[in-house]
Amino acid sequence: MRRLRKNSKIRDLVRETSLTANDLIYPLFVKDGLSDSEPIHSMPGQFRLSIEGAVKEAAEIADLGVPAIIIFGIPKVKDEKGSSAYNPRGIVQRTVRRMKKEFSDELVIITDVCLCQYTSHGHCGIVKNGMLLNDQTLEILKKIAVSHAEAGADIVAPSGMIDGQVQAIREALDQSGFSDVAIMAYSAKHASSFYGPFRDAAHSAPSFGDRRSYQMDYSNPNEALREVELDIREGADIVMVKPALAYLDIIYRVKSRYRMPTAAYNVSGEYSMIKAAAEKGWIDEKTAVLEVLTAIKRAGADMILTYFAKEVAEWMRNG
Ligand code: PBG
Repeated sequence: MRRLRKNSKIRDLVRETSLTANDLIYPLFVKDGLSDSEPIHSMPGQFRLSIEGAVKEAAEIADLGVPAIIIFGIPKVKDEKGSSAYNPRGIVQRTVRRMKKEFSDELVIITDVCLCQYTSHGHCGIVKNGMLLNDQTLEILKKIAVSHAEAGADIVAPSGMIDGQVQAIREALDQSGFSDVAIMAYSAKHASSFYGPFRDAAHSAPSFGDRRSYQMDYSNPNEALREVELDIREGADIVMVKPALAYLDIIYRVKSRYRMPTAAYNVSGEYSMIKAAAEKGWIDEKTAVLEVLTAIKRAGADMILTYFAKEVAEWMRNG
């Protein structure tokens, strides 16, 4: 076997999986009312951005050859219903409008459709007596998705694990004249400890309880496949597995079984673990990141949402 490992050119020739900037989606946090960017302490190298800061960042991303960003909004006001999530003048809507004007079709704009950053209790829907109400939440998700489409989003990405959310959003988009807006469904999104740094970044930790009555139990691969199958039937264009690293088996099964465009979310905790170990000098950041992202692709992901996207694209450009 070693004959084909002899030098780097031979290794290039026989490589079965290759990672390129084209595979990556860069998440951006945009915070309402911000004038300067704020560093996110639990995610070294990541920032809460103003609208102008986000536009600047997006321009750099597009220039590096990363095809897409996903936008997370952090609103000024939270309430029981998360009403700033569907405000046409909300932070995500204003950011998307501004970016579409700036980039047109040079950058794919994806928006996260969820309520946890916008609700006073930090849950991903309407809550009554401590329980998340499914169908009442769907009504709000429809409004959010349509408001993002009106602002110019190319793809909306419902992340709340609310039953029926893909179908509800598909119908709402079609009825509002946005049949060309695609849905990237967070289909198999697991209740995970690896979202910790994100919740700090987006101020979206639940104020009571946890998310286990809507996000999936990580012990259940068959249930993950059922979730994906339902989302495909409901009209998802892209299905997602989240997190990625502890879920390579799920990514593999989803891709093998459904052959759908498949995304994997290399989440905040997966990012910060590498950053922290690298800061301590315990691992080499660049080689670790490339190993992890290549493994996620090898498992079957066509695209990876990752906070490393910008760095990776820079490495690829500069060698
Ligand atoms: C919102 C949402 C979360 C993430 C993406 N969308 C947080 C959560 O479900 O608590 C996590 C992303 C990450 O950790 O990088 N529902």
